[in-house]
Amino acid sequence: MNEQPEVIVCVGTGGVGKTTISSAIGMAGALRGKKTLVMTIDPAKRLAQSMGIRELKNVPTPVPLRSLQQCGQPIRGSLDAMILETQTTFDNLIRKYSSSPQKADAILNNSYYHYVSGELAGSEDYMAMEKLYEIKKEYDYDLIVVDTPPARHAINFLTAPNRLIQLISSGVLKWLIRPSASVSMIGFNILNRAPQKIVKLLKSYVGLEIVEDLTEFFSEFNDLYSGFKSRAKEVNALLASPRVQFYMVTAPTRDAVDEAIYFYSIMKEYEINFAGFIVNKIHPPLYNDAARSKSGRIISTLDQDDPLRITLEETLAMDSIAINDQALIASLRAKVRSQKIQYYLSSLIMDRELTNLCTLVTIAQALDGVIG
Ligand SMILES: Nc1ncnc2c1ncn2[C@@H]1O[C@H](COP(=O)(O)OP(=O)(O)OP(=O)(O)O)[C@@H](O)[C@H]1O
Ligand SMILES: [Mg+2]
Repeated sequence: MNEQPEVIVCVGTGGVGKTTISSAIGMAGALRGKKTLVMTIDPAKRLAQSMGIRELKNVPTPVPLRSLQQCGQPIRGSLDAMILETQTTFDNLIRKYSSSPQKADAILNNSYYHYVSGELAGSEDYMAMEKLYEIKKEYDYDLIVVDTPPARHAINFLTAPNRLIQLISSGVLKWLIRPSASVSMIGFNILNRAPQKIVKLLKSYVGLEIVEDLTEFFSEFNDLYSGFKSRAKEVNALLASPRVQFYMVTAPTRDAVDEAIYFYSIMKEYEINFAGFIVNKIHPPLYNDAARSKSGRIISTLDQDDPLRITLEETLAMDSIAINDQALIASLRAKVRSQKIQYYLSSLIMDRELTNLCTLVTIAQALDGVIG
C-alpha cells in the first residue's frame, strides 16, 4: 500500500482513458470517505453528464452521489468535480500578477494574447498544474485527482513553468523591451538590426508582421515576471512533494505501451513521485487455461460448419485478445522493473459510454489501492 496521497495526477497519451480513470479514482476516494475533487479536462459528454458537470467550468461542484444507492454503495465521503478551462486559468493569473487592473486589461485585450498564451506557455499542461496549486491552497480537500491533456510532448507539463519564466527573462525579450524607444522604433530596430537568429525565432513563433503588437504585449507582460517566477517555483515544489503522486494511464496496445515506457523514461528524470502504471481497457479473459485447451480439443472433434464449433472458435478468438493484452502488460512490467512502481489493471467496460455512476464505481473498485 502507498502512503496516502493528497494529489494524484493521471498522465498518458491520447484516448487511453485518463479522464475516465481520474474520475474513477475520485470515486474511489469518495467511497473511502474522503473529501475528494476531480479536475477533469474535456470529459466525454456522457461522463460529464453523469457527474453533473457538463456546464460548469473551472469551479468545483458537487457530484450528486444519491444515485449510488442503486448500485448498493454506501456514500461516506464526497465527490466534487470541475472541468478545467485553461484559458480562464491563464487569464486569472495575468490579473493576479499585473501591477494594476489597467495593465491586466492591456495584456488580456492585446490581440495576440490568446495566441501567445497558448503557444508560449505550453499552457494546457501548465495550467492544469497551476490550477491544482491554486485549488490546493484555497480548499481543504483530502484528495485531489488531476486529469491532464494528452501528453503530446511528453514533458510539457513538467517543464512549462520553467519555460515560461525562461522566455520572459530571456535575452530576446530584454532586447525587445526598451522603455525609451517607441513601439514603432522597436519594430524598426527589429526589422533592420536584429540578429538573424532573433528574427528567425520571432518569425517562427508569430510572423514578422505582428511584431509591433507583440512588442507592446511583451513590455506589458514583462511586468508579471517576478510574480510568475515565484509562482513557478511554488508549483514546482508542490509537484515534487511526496504527497503528490503521478500515475501513467495506458492501454494494452503496442503503441500505447511503447509510449508509456518512453514517457516514463523521461518522467523519472524529474523530481516527482512516479507511483505506477494503470493499464486501462483490458479485455477480460473468457477461459482459464484448462477450459481453453478443453475447448480446443472439442473443436477438433466437430465438423467445420457445426454451430457449436463456430461459437467456440469465436469465443477463443475473443479470448486470444485477452491473452494478447496480458502479454503486453507482462512486457511493460519486464521493461519497467522497480519495487516502487505499482501496477493497476482496469477492464474494458462494455457500456462504452460509461452512462452512469455505478459504472464508474466498478472501475473505482479495481483502483482502490491507488489512494493508499
Ligand atoms: N475501461 C473502459 N472501458 C470502456 N470504455 C472506456 C474505458 N475507459 C475509457 N473508455 C472510453 O474511452 C474513451 C476515451 O476515454 P477518456 O476520454 O477517458 O480518455 P482520455 O485519455 O482522457 O482521452 P484524451 O486523451 O482525448 O483526453 C471514452 O469514450 C471512454 O468512455
Ligand atoms: Mg481526457
